[in-house]
Amino acid sequence: VSRRVINLGLAGFGTVGSALARIMVENADDVARRTTADLRIKTVLVRDPDKPRGFDPGPETTFTTRVEDILDDPEIDIVLELMGGLDNAEAFTRKALEAGKHVVTANKALLAERGRPLFELAARKNLGLYYEASIAGGIPIVQALKHSLAANRIDKLQGILNGTANFIMSEMTTKGMSFEEALAEATELGYAEADPTLDVDGIDAAHKLALLVRLCHGQHYPFEEMHIEGIRGVTPEDIRFAREFGYRIKLIGQIRQDGSRIDAGMFPALVRDRFLLSKLGKNLNGIRVMGNMVGPLFFTGQGAGGLPTASAVLADILMLVRRIDAPDNTGFIESDLPLAEVLPPEESVHEFYLRFTVADRPGVMAAIASVMAENDVSIAQAIQRDTGEGELVPLVFMTHTASTRAIARCLEATSAFDFIGAPTAMLRIIEEDA
Ligand SMILES: NC(=O)c1ccc[n+]([C@@H]2O[C@H](COP(=O)([O-])OP(=O)(O)OC[C@H]3O[C@@H](n4cnc5c(N)ncnc54)[C@H](OP(=O)(O)O)[C@@H]3O)[C@@H](O)[C@H]2O)c1
Repeated sequence: VSRRVINLGLAGFGTVGSALARIMVENADDVARRTTADLRIKTVLVRDPDKPRGFDPGPETTFTTRVEDILDDPEIDIVLELMGGLDNAEAFTRKALEAGKHVVTANKALLAERGRPLFELAARKNLGLYYEASIAGGIPIVQALKHSLAANRIDKLQGILNGTANFIMSEMTTKGMSFEEALAEATELGYAEADPTLDVDGIDAAHKLALLVRLCHGQHYPFEEMHIEGIRGVTPEDIRFAREFGYRIKLIGQIRQDGSRIDAGMFPALVRDRFLLSKLGKNLNGIRVMGNMVGPLFFTGQGAGGLPTASAVLADILMLVRRIDAPDNTGFIESDLPLAEVLPPEESVHEFYLRFTVADRPGVMAAIASVMAENDVSIAQAIQRDTGEGELVPLVFMTHTASTRAIARCLEATSAFDFIGAPTAMLRIIEEDA
């Protein structure tokens, strides 16, 4: 077999970039057997060339701070965008595509928020814009949706897409910790960043969910229209009540279709405890895909970390090397995907968990139940705790399916009652269908 050299230009040599260099050395023999190209990291772009690095890529690699050293180098065929962030990453990716180079990226924020023109540019130029690492790190969900499941209509996808948030929810559940205590532990163990906003407010996971809409339905989902709720408001009390009903609370991303419209949302939800997603502990990620022919499939593994993420980056590079003449970036034939018709979040239908904080006196349950009946919300189960006359007590309802708008109306109406002692907790419930 005659072998050729493929030169890579890496933008970023942090956790993922240096892990990629390490895998290329440690797995060199295995990788060499999977393609006829010899991969070489020719140039690495960083901010500070004097910083000590986690892995030394060897003398063939040049470190630079000038983007032109990658973008204007005709020998570089594939560039890796492993810097993160929006503005610089966007400019770099666009220029790389304009220069005719294939791009592999782990940057879900960029693709979800500003990806559409980049994908269109890549399609116009017949270039690869690959992103396996950007959704759930090492889990091969992009290839599965692009290729392996291509014969299916994807009726539903539900996932735990952020390891930090899942770690926090798992610790709150197994150790009875508060959100703040679990976040502090996650930070100490290195699972959470100094600024945990993207993780705990659901934004990072929502970026991945928007990309999953693209892969499941061949439509571009306008990220700014997505319903995104994080886990800051989940209390140990709600976790305990959920357990009494047979559920755990997890940060869930869900994609469903409602007629021609896409119902995509990110929210903490009650997940029945026999459902595989509810069993994912620590920082694991998991995705359940319901194909209309294959039935339910479940993927789980490390959604972050240098080596798992970089292994997905390298798989994309190998895939590109194999199919460089006709890269397919989503798995649909359109070069310009249509904009998804979005189901407005208030029309999204779920079963709900509602925890009211009420004065312990007669007639309270009936008053709330009648508001719910007026709004066509029917009650499936209820738990009432008495603690003694005059005290504030929790009163918890599980509803049958209702629209988010109807629930919002119930909460608005009940908030006016003088026996309500605190804002009502509202969580969605997700069920596993066969
Ligand atoms: N870490 C993970 O587990 C993980 C998992 C999935 C996806 N991702 C995604 O992968 C990407 C990289 O993440 P990471 O954790 O590897 O980040 P990181 O450790 O912070 O590394 C970022 C690298 O990019 C370089 N860089 C940043 N801005 C730059 C600029 N404007 N010009 C030149 N170089 C620049 C930095 O240079 P210096 O070294 O000189 O500072 C550093 O080498 C992000 O999009 C992230 O969302 C990460």
